Amino acid sequence: MVRFPKKITVKLAQREGANALRSLIDNGHLIDFSSNDYLGFARDASLNERTSEILADKRKIRNGATGSRLLTGNHSYYTALEAKLAAFHQTEAALVFNSGYDANVGFFSAVPQRGDIVLYDEYIHASIRDGINLGNAKGFKFKHNSLTDLERRCKVERSQSTSNAEIYIVTESVFSMDGDSPDLKGMAEINEKYNCFFVVDEAHALGVFGKKGAGLIQQMGLEEAVFARIVTFGKAIGVHGAAILGSGSLKAYLVNFARSFIYTTGLPPHAIALISAVYGKLEEDNQTKKAQLHENINYFEQQVESLNLKSLFIQSVSAIHCCVFSGNDRVRSMAERFQNEGFDIRPILSPTVPKGEERLRICIHSFNTKKEIRKVLQLLAIFTEEV
Ligand SMILES: Cc1ncc(COP(=O)(O)O)c(C=O)c1O
Repeated sequence: MVRFPKKITVKLAQREGANALRSLIDNGHLIDFSSNDYLGFARDASLNERTSEILADKRKIRNGATGSRLLTGNHSYYTALEAKLAAFHQTEAALVFNSGYDANVGFFSAVPQRGDIVLYDEYIHASIRDGINLGNAKGFKFKHNSLTDLERRCKVERSQSTSNAEIYIVTESVFSMDGDSPDLKGMAEINEKYNCFFVVDEAHALGVFGKKGAGLIQQMGLEEAVFARIVTFGKAIGVHGAAILGSGSLKAYLVNFARSFIYTTGLPPHAIALISAVYGKLEEDNQTKKAQLHENINYFEQQVESLNLKSLFIQSVSAIHCCVFSGNDRVRSMAERFQNEGFDIRPILSPTVPKGEERLRICIHSFNTKKEIRKVLQLLAIFTEEV
């Protein structure tokens, strides 16, 4: 038998002991209250046809990118998509990465320099933390969505750091594990006051908020206030990949210095054409899907009220609604009960969220029916009474 290192055997055993061992499951047969496919694009068959049309136009068969984008991987579909993204998101330039993880790791490891400071929300996504850890700048967290703590931190850093230190302020416009949003306008004001650079991850806002689903920054007219936005295509867009939106100079810098952009094979033409096809749909008819999604979110909220469940939930107007049930055992068994009833609802365990804040993450979609939503919440009411 092939030997296995002792130290990692111990780590696995510790995870198991904490009932936090994750494994890969396929719940595809259950009713979806868990995926990030908020608008149902991942299951939209009409996109296959549109994608084929886009690919046929170019009359070139290339199944894979064949190299890094800096070598042979930069096919013409990229150029077309990046131009489309820049126009749609009202920004100077867009640079597509292989995933949101890659985009954040690439940006935060390469942009903030030694001596610079990154101030990030304590609940920021792991990809941003990993990027900061790989880079040379110092990172400090501020309390979740707290303008007071952010401003306090800015004051401290401005008084203590060298005069040429840049400060980056980072948040998500919709938090992935809470579904709530910061006061983006307030943050933009602090950003301006302390002469910082504002970076916003819009992974869970794209498709859900803003005209044509362009995101919260555009909904609030804050395009000029941000230095960079990260949009991801694996969530409401239903495909894979991500883009960093910003100036032409930022794009040029990332092409030259973001290692997760440079040292990897590009996305295949098919994936890029598919993303392009979904953006085409956002341009045309997203209002229907988006309107259905928001109707369902409103219905969910009404049912939460009428079943007296409000105190269980973290306040959210997004597609993500979470109720905290402290303890991996508890949240695991709760999710299992939902799955036994035919609903795909997943537990979010520690250490993904802080210990004691384990939760059920319920995602609402445009395609969920009112009956399904009602049933989920009725079950939740029953299950919580029993524990
Ligand atoms: C806020 C946020 N940013 C970035 C990512 C990473 O995106 P991707 O799944 O495309 O790697 C995620 C996904 O989990 C996310 O929730």
